[in-house]
Amino acid sequence: MNVNLLENPFPSTTYHGAEYFCDREAETARLISNMQNGNSTTLMAIRRIGKTGLMQHTLSQLPLGWKGIYIDILETENLCQFLNLLTTSIINAVPEKNNIGQMFGNFIKSLRPVISFDTLTGAPQATFDIKPKDVEANISSVFQFLEKQAFKTVIAIDEFQQILSYPEKNTDAWLRTRIQHLKNVVFIFSGSQQHLISELFTSPKRPFFRSTQMLKLEKLNHTVYRNFIVSMFKKYNKEISVAIVNEMLEWTNNHTFYVQQLCNRVFAVSPKKATSKIWKQQAYLLLKEQETVFFSFRNMLTNPQWQLLKAIAHEGVVYQLTANQFLKKFDLGTSATVLRSLKTLIGYELVYNEFDTKGKQYYSVYDVFFQRWTESR
Ligand SMILES: Nc1ncnc2c1ncn2[C@@H]1O[C@H](COP(=O)(O)OP(=O)(O)OP(=O)(O)O)[C@@H](O)[C@H]1O
Ligand SMILES: [Mg+2]
Repeated sequence: MNVNLLENPFPSTTYHGAEYFCDREAETARLISNMQNGNSTTLMAIRRIGKTGLMQHTLSQLPLGWKGIYIDILETENLCQFLNLLTTSIINAVPEKNNIGQMFGNFIKSLRPVISFDTLTGAPQATFDIKPKDVEANISSVFQFLEKQAFKTVIAIDEFQQILSYPEKNTDAWLRTRIQHLKNVVFIFSGSQQHLISELFTSPKRPFFRSTQMLKLEKLNHTVYRNFIVSMFKKYNKEISVAIVNEMLEWTNNHTFYVQQLCNRVFAVSPKKATSKIWKQQAYLLLKEQETVFFSFRNMLTNPQWQLLKAIAHEGVVYQLTANQFLKKFDLGTSATVLRSLKTLIGYELVYNEFDTKGKQYYSVYDVFFQRWTESR
């Protein structure tokens, strides 16, 4: 077996390369075409569908003449940390060994950061200890430096909603102004908190309104995902039937992260051939392991909120939360109570609302495992 092969072909944490990545061909092509036409893109989707994976996959498939930089800004708390992360990522994306790397290295050094090395990976890290005004100037210079290069750059910023919590005022207005005239640098924005990302890019009041192309990421195509899973087992000299994969996809609502987790387990414990008994047992164990988390949801909520969460989980998909039939079936009280509880559940990211293919709005529970757990009780 190839030594570079992952031991388990179903990673559920990060992107591990095109080999382990299912489909998304149309979406990757669309992102690349947007870039080539000078457009930035905002990637939208509910949680754990594969936004981060798609960004990284796209950066691994860039056409000639492009360089990709990925930054996840979740841990940054202000513009200076944003600058640190941006420069660190560029240093690591273009190593000093080649010409461009050297040029960039020299440029970065001219900004006078402290360069240290990650104790675990040994990768260089840039840290700036400068005044807020200089932070802005430095970010601008980094963009201008990239703008002047012979290659084109795409900067993928993940967890972009984080800029809303920076203490600097109007970071989005500032950033929008800095990037809107760039011709050689485009962006891909995404983030896990969809309501904030949506607010940033689709509210007419915000500076980024309509400044990017929107790309909505749906669940993977069922048949394509199924064939991918079957072929992965085969590639590793194991076996799983189409019928079993269908059952597993149904149980996980075809939701990428949950599919990957279940497949990872089933693959790990199947000696050769995955059976119905094996997957059901693994599914049971996954729920059992999460039970403390599910109980903590309950402790965090008031009784009406908890009852509503369970009711939505039970139904899977609910179109009319305040319909009499739904209220009665689960004994939820008045529609006013339900709407109040709903607000909290959405705020805690326990419930999300989406539009189906016909444009009808519905509500579902985020965590597929939680949904299955409540059903089993
Ligand atoms: N097309 C794919 N094929 C195989 N695995 C995938 C695919 N897309 C995503 N994954 C895997 O599913 C898991 C969840 O995906 P990812 O983290 O990209 O989702 P996300 O939408 O960014 O989640 P969040 O909303 O929490 O940021 C990851 O382990 C990722 O590697
Ligand atoms: Mg993500």
